Amino acid sequence: MNLHPVGIIGTGKYVPENILTNQQLEQMVETNDEWIVTRTGIKERRLAAEQEATSDLAYEAAKRAIAAAGLTADDIDLIIVATITPDMFFPSTACLLQDKLGAAKAAAFDLSAACSGFIYGLATGSNMIATGMYKHVLVVGAETLSRITDYTDRNTCILFGDGAGAVVLGQVEEGRGFKSFELGADGSGGELLRVRGGGSRLPASAQTLSEKQHYIYMAGNDVFKFAVRIMGSAAEEALAKAGMSKEDVDLLVPHQANIRIIQSALSRLNLAEEKAMINLDKYGNMSAASIPVALAEAVEQNRVKEGDCLVFVGFGGGLTWGASVLIW
Ligand code: UT7
Repeated sequence: MNLHPVGIIGTGKYVPENILTNQQLEQMVETNDEWIVTRTGIKERRLAAEQEATSDLAYEAAKRAIAAAGLTADDIDLIIVATITPDMFFPSTACLLQDKLGAAKAAAFDLSAACSGFIYGLATGSNMIATGMYKHVLVVGAETLSRITDYTDRNTCILFGDGAGAVVLGQVEEGRGFKSFELGADGSGGELLRVRGGGSRLPASAQTLSEKQHYIYMAGNDVFKFAVRIMGSAAEEALAKAGMSKEDVDLLVPHQANIRIIQSALSRLNLAEEKAMINLDKYGNMSAASIPVALAEAVEQNRVKEGDCLVFVGFGGGLTWGASVLIW
């Protein structure tokens, strides 16, 4: 089969206006700004307004990405929304987004791979274009994690924020675009990071509510160790598959979970901190939205030039991980 080169032809992001600072968290749980900054690098995060749901954030980011690509909603053939906080079980957030955008010709589905969801979405969408099935695919990472965060649990509530990032994938010139994907999963670690209640195993009930089963549970330390191991190795695998080396990397766009996790990936890859797009100080961990928001900001800040080698890398619940090499 003759594969077409596929790349990112438009980016967009949206974060809600409402800011939750470390100082405000100090009033809510027993924590302090110094602990949060030194252990995580996070200073503030955004929270969706009461009337905003995931599809609303996704809509704002998607509109911008489609405009940046010089297209209209009519040009989109497929919408993939990576999220663990859909508006509802079904219809999918991708279908709700398709309606809001008026993207009448687009197929639409949600993708569940937690914080790795955006990279899983890039792999799925780009292969559908490479094989000639579609021309333009909209991939969105969008989350309202504040809706599943327990603001009495200091182990988790300091980490998460809401936001959305989007890209449009399309054909690019020979030599540019995605060079590799490295995706993985280890379901045996599923218990380390999860929302247990509300599904078919444990349907919502007064008991699940009182036991706080609808909130994120995380074994932070175990996830941390997994993340440090997998971020470096997934990025290395993706580079090897692309036939490239660490020296070729111009910009690392990592999942924004913890500054110490990003620093360990940088040291494994022998990269200086300036080679990473870092914005977790402003937004915290936005799960599937972290990487596309970081990419959109890198583009806004002119940190990405034609021909640059970008590496995306993320990890998350599942457990899952993903990495990709792209020539811009
Ligand atoms: O997107 C993927 C999702 N998740 C992640 O990427 C998270 C990965 N994990 C992490 O980033 C880190 O494990 C955390 C930031 C969550 C925690 O940092 P840590 O260095 O692993 O701390 P710890 O859990 O080992 O806790 C150290 C101490 C404990 O006190 P004791 O038992 O030593 O007395 C905690 O109770 O810090 C305490 N602690 C806090 N203290 C102040 C935990 N959370 C807080 C807090 N403020 N918010």
